[in-house]
Amino acid sequence: MGDWIRYVWKDAKRIIDSSPLPEDPIHARNTLKWLLKLNPGADKNLRLASLTHDIERAIPERKVKRVDYPDYESFKKAHAENSAIIVAQIMRRHRVCEEVIRDVTDLIKMHEIGGTERADLLRDADSLSFFDRNLLFYAERNSLEEVTRRCIWGYNRISEERRGLVREILKKRSDKVSRYILSILDTF
Ligand SMILES: [Fe+2]
Repeated sequence: MGDWIRYVWKDAKRIIDSSPLPEDPIHARNTLKWLLKLNPGADKNLRLASLTHDIERAIPERKVKRVDYPDYESFKKAHAENSAIIVAQIMRRHRVCEEVIRDVTDLIKMHEIGGTERADLLRDADSLSFFDRNLLFYAERNSLEEVTRRCIWGYNRISEERRGLVREILKKRSDKVSRYILSILDTF
């Protein structure tokens, strides 16, 4: 039983690393890195949730699609719930107790919006990682208008006291997209 975490991490990483989206394995690990930067004492369930929160995106035949949802919020909710289902399946395969499964999957379900101190940490780490690692990949596949919308959405969901970290990330960059987004966020 004590060894479950090693096996669950191994299975989850194998799925995440097989994602057709190049930023997925980077983002999963970088979200964990941000979580530990925000709270070095983050517990093991929260660490697992931070690594796996987007896992459904790594499985093309199971991932939810934006076109199937009336708005961005319901799409994001379905994405979070779908990732939670996949992580619960991995954990049950390794006979993890239901109490731990519920804790990890509740965190994953809340990762877009937060709602508890631990879920807020995960949400903020996820959002910071988007600016840190995903932004330029996202900009390659989407219009500047969509990138701007996504950045404003991501910025607004971070706890106010951590928003300065987004500016720090963007200030270190010299590419056009980061500079443009920083100029937009400076108007907030
Ligand atoms: Fe994420």
